Amino acid sequence: ASRTQTQFSSREGFGSTLGVIAATLGSAVGLGNIWKFPTITGQNGGAAFILIYLLCVCLIGLPVMISEFVIGRRSNAAAVGSFKRLAPSTPWFFAGLSGAVAAFLIMAFYTSVAGWVYAYIFKAIGGGLMTADPKVSEQAFNTFVSSVWSPLIWQWIVLIVTGAVILAGVKNGIERMTKTLLPILFVLLLICDIRALTLPGASEGLAFLFKPDFAQITGATVLAAMGLAFFKLSVGMGAMITYGSYIGKGENLIGTGVKVALADTVVSMMAGMAIFPAVFAFGFSPTDGAKLLFMTIPMVFNSMPFGQVFLTLFFILSSIAATGAMISLFEVPVAYLREERNWSRKRATVVTALGMALIGSTATLSNSLLADFHLFGKTLFDLYDYTSSNLLLPITGLAIALFAGWKLSRWDIADEISNSGSLNNKRLIQGYWLVVRFVVPVAIVIVLLSGLGLFD
Ligand code: PHE
Repeated sequence: ASRTQTQFSSREGFGSTLGVIAATLGSAVGLGNIWKFPTITGQNGGAAFILIYLLCVCLIGLPVMISEFVIGRRSNAAAVGSFKRLAPSTPWFFAGLSGAVAAFLIMAFYTSVAGWVYAYIFKAIGGGLMTADPKVSEQAFNTFVSSVWSPLIWQWIVLIVTGAVILAGVKNGIERMTKTLLPILFVLLLICDIRALTLPGASEGLAFLFKPDFAQITGATVLAAMGLAFFKLSVGMGAMITYGSYIGKGENLIGTGVKVALADTVVSMMAGMAIFPAVFAFGFSPTDGAKLLFMTIPMVFNSMPFGQVFLTLFFILSSIAATGAMISLFEVPVAYLREERNWSRKRATVVTALGMALIGSTATLSNSLLADFHLFGKTLFDLYDYTSSNLLLPITGLAIALFAGWKLSRWDIADEISNSGSLNNKRLIQGYWLVVRFVVPVAIVIVLLSGLGLFD
């Protein structure tokens, strides 16, 4: 076999090192940090779950992210095309396809929650969220999501906004927005943390986040932690393959991955430290689920000077962060349609948005009209969420790890990660290689099987 893979010529890409990190972080940071992480952590008992989640990020999520960068940059193509270029006439490209399906399912419920966040900007401005009464806060959320039209329309607005950014093109759309705004979201979370941690009763929330109780851990919990790690880092669906293909040849792939995973985890923990002290201080329950963010954050801001201004800003920035993440989700099917089917950017974007609106509406309606409709014991919203995070992302992630660890030649991997030898990182490459070849596949398989109850 030939030792070198053809180097494919570069295409439009990210302009700078900071641009690469910002764009990748723009994909990773989103509703996962401020909404999904607290929701799932609350439902799975807190600290012990977080520890397992951190392990999954380091041992599974990060190596898969680096693998996606390698595959994307080496091939200079998006998810499906990359496999076709690196392994022509093999079925590996199915990994790219299943990633595109996962992207669709994630968008179905993600746009729904993003719609809530967009709507909350205006609720914050209107002042109706400024309350010291936990019941009022909870009621405001329940009334909103259980109505039929308003959440639907917000979801469609989300899709139109995201589609418009996609049509504006890679560099302009993604890079500019995330680079400038993520730091502001970070500062707002910090303010929120300080207030939440000084609420009476906050210590209970801290104990929930930091004092592990492993008695609650089951196979299903570990699967939820792994699914969250995939979802959080935006890996296991080819989004990072597409982004990898935009990364310049001079960038350090391992370094980028480590920085992104670290920053992303910090943001999640900061969201947790804003939300859980408030959960206990205001008498909510950590298992309250999807509504935690929307009940607690307004109350935290309500209890500080200029709270309404900060709250409005918080939801504006969260909307932008969510939009950054959605752009990367959207890009997976769009890139496929453009590059594999030769569709124009416009046609691919419009058709993708319409498809997402269609499926997405059924997720949104499962909080109202379809609330009693269950498939496999779950509402459609929960079903899309579970299937994508806990099944499709890990399975696609497994394929990506196997591809990087066993199909690509070791020489190609080393060449790509060391930037053709210009980085002196032999040890790191060796470590990555062992992890992606053995640890990642074995871990994914064991967690999947135990999560599905095979060892019970
Ligand atoms: N990581 C994003 C978030 O946490 C969601 C996402 C998942 C984006 C998969 C792209 C791909 O909000």
